[in-house]
Amino acid sequence: MQPLAMILALAENGALGLRGALPWSCPEDREYFLRVTAGHSVIMGRRTFEDTGAELASCRVIVVTSQPPSALSRTAIGDRPVELAPTLDDAIERARSTDTTPFVLGGSEIYRAAMPKVTEVYLTRIPGSPEADVFYEPDLSTFALVSERVAGAGVRFLRYERR
Ligand SMILES: NC(=O)c1ccc[n+]([C@@H]2O[C@H](COP(=O)([O-])OP(=O)(O)OC[C@H]3O[C@@H](n4cnc5c(N)ncnc54)[C@H](OP(=O)(O)O)[C@@H]3O)[C@@H](O)[C@H]2O)c1
Repeated sequence: MQPLAMILALAENGALGLRGALPWSCPEDREYFLRVTAGHSVIMGRRTFEDTGAELASCRVIVVTSQPPSALSRTAIGDRPVELAPTLDDAIERARSTDTTPFVLGGSEIYRAAMPKVTEVYLTRIPGSPEADVFYEPDLSTFALVSERVAGAGVRFLRYERR
């Protein structure tokens, strides 16, 4: 399998998102997320893009959407235009043209579709079970845990590789 990384943060109840944003505020995870993805080509669904800020300016951003550019509320992150891809496979192919290990950034629809192609997973476990309207729990039965770091307030940074 060609390398493809996925990065996500999940609460104990599988909570992933709430009203188009994250269900928590976790500066440690934000800092980790930006450090891990810096300079990479990143792939996200249109709904996740709507909530993404200028902090991803060092990344080549590819948004998966069935809609034309005119239907999106914006087509740039900061000063940097994003690319639109009509399918996940198209997004992955584009991303690989400049990055040997692109990152899948969510949300749940994109994680579900990408999971069979993913070779490494960066998973942050957020303590607690917050209110959420988007849930996801990856099946990691074919992955091995290769590193684990516990940060403040019980936040855990886990990294898995496909066996
Ligand atoms: N906790 C985390 O680590 C994390 C990470 C990322 C996101 N989130 C949260 O997750 C939530 C968003 O997730 P979501 O599942 O609602 O949406 P999403 O996966 O971000 O985006 C879904 C959209 O992507 C496009 N899409 C998905 N699959 C497609 C396909 N096969 N072909 C073409 N287009 C496709 C469609 O856009 P069109 O409708 O434009 O066609 C679809 O409506 C937000 O709350 C966000 O904050 C959390």
